[in-house]
Amino acid sequence: MSTEKKSSPFNLQRLIRENVRKMTPYSSARDEYVSDGSEKIFLDANENPFENGLNRYPDPRQRNLKSEIASRKGINENKILLGNGSDEVLDLLFRAFCEPAKDKVITVPPTYGMYGVLASLNDVENTKVEMNPDFTLNLRKINEAVDVNTKLIFVCSPNNPSGNSIPVEQIEALLGFFNGLVVIDEAYIDFSEQRSWIESLKEYPNLVVTQTFSKAYGMAGIRLGLCFASEEVITILNRIKPPYNVNELTQRKAMDRLQNWDLIQEEIDILRSEREKLKKAMASLPFVKQVYHSDANFILVKVDNADKRYEELLNQGFIVRNRTNQALCSNGLRFTIGTPSENDRLITALNKMK
Ligand SMILES: Cc1ncc(COP(=O)(O)O)c(C=O)c1O
Repeated sequence: MSTEKKSSPFNLQRLIRENVRKMTPYSSARDEYVSDGSEKIFLDANENPFENGLNRYPDPRQRNLKSEIASRKGINENKILLGNGSDEVLDLLFRAFCEPAKDKVITVPPTYGMYGVLASLNDVENTKVEMNPDFTLNLRKINEAVDVNTKLIFVCSPNNPSGNSIPVEQIEALLGFFNGLVVIDEAYIDFSEQRSWIESLKEYPNLVVTQTFSKAYGMAGIRLGLCFASEEVITILNRIKPPYNVNELTQRKAMDRLQNWDLIQEEIDILRSEREKLKKAMASLPFVKQVYHSDANFILVKVDNADKRYEELLNQGFIVRNRTNQALCSNGLRFTIGTPSENDRLITALNKMK
């Protein structure tokens, strides 16, 4: 079979960049003395001692926040890394595992553009293996594309910009035959019926899952990304992350938001039902050729002429994403689901278009 497991077993040590393995990580003041909450006079970090609520460095390991996330997600804190948005988390994966000008990653267009941008930035070859026309993985071609220098494969599920979740059996197959790390980007998982791959971390040492506070959690402005993986992978990422990469305000806001769990769930429910409302309204428009299935908070729609329809919508005050130049997305427009009244206004505008 073309997707048989590669001969050598998974070996994390083999994947780590030589310089990362050898380096001594920076040890911050707050790493060296961890406050136990008792009265102390802190003269170790060259901070301004006058209290204003933010004069101290934040917790470099984000212990309170991680503990809250760990209990919500049912995972051990040692399997979590937090970053300045998931974009930072993705960049750390490149920097930990990909040797510039030597190693490679695989991406599967159409997909989230930052994987390719980070590959270029880190001077890592990006082998693109286009998806099948139904936006599933072309496993045979992915397997053929893997070589000894392939360190990471990025799969976005639900996928941006197509909106569908990648079939479970396909991801299981990928985890089985690829001996590097499979990164599943679950930025949109909360809008999906599918379970998170976090639950499978015990089974697959080569699985890395990323999530974000930017979508369902409604906190794009604080920049908080999450990475879930084996303790061994998280330890490596912790060695190379900037010491205070998640600032104090972000940690506090994220904690506050998690206390409003029911509100987050309510918003997700509204967005999911609005998604169905929009899908239905769009399907009946004469210039719409296809409305794709979505497990996310956006829908991809194939129209007669994406450039023309984009301009028409813009003239009516609606900014959508023109994805016509992406693989398999010719004449595709991506609509983010707005509030119920924004969506009603959009439907009215769309109905006016001839
Ligand atoms: C699939 C995917 N991953 C990650 C991100 C970025 O997440 P963050 O805001 O946490 O950097 C986005 C943003 O659009 C996305 O679509």
